[in-house]
Amino acid sequence: MILCETIKSKMEAIRSEFPTEQALLLPLLHEIQAKEGWVSEGAMREASEFLHLPLAKVKEVVTFYTMYNRKPVGKYHIQVCTNIACFLRGSDQLVACFEKKLGISCGETTADRKFTLSEVECLAACGTAPVMQVNNDYHENLDESSCQALIDRLS
Ligand code: FES
Repeated sequence: MILCETIKSKMEAIRSEFPTEQALLLPLLHEIQAKEGWVSEGAMREASEFLHLPLAKVKEVVTFYTMYNRKPVGKYHIQVCTNIACFLRGSDQLVACFEKKLGISCGETTADRKFTLSEVECLAACGTAPVMQVNNDYHENLDESSCQALIDRLS
């Protein structure tokens, strides 16, 4: 059972703050991901039953937002924004740098399960592009040397 009593009570506690069950889906998915590290098919099914929403609606949301992981990720999830502002400031070079340094392609996890590399949509920090998130922490105004230094520090 992925939706444990703790998650259910958290949702009950905030339920009245949300106008619809569908609106409650986002915080529910955040809770699931915080517990499991990702949102599995089974978790989507449980969320759909808990909120009385069609499974397709839950899948729609999980697949739309890059912040929800659809497979397990490594200890450090490197999420490089490749939207326009970051792209114009060299995010593609950062992705290439991480791929080379980690020996994986975007979307993959290292064999030791330490790093996962992903491209994500705008992280809403365009003014300090290029930007990435490592787990929940933002890293801004990046260049290749700061990315290499980060991997060395986390390795
Ligand atoms: S385009 Fe990268 S943070 Fe907005």
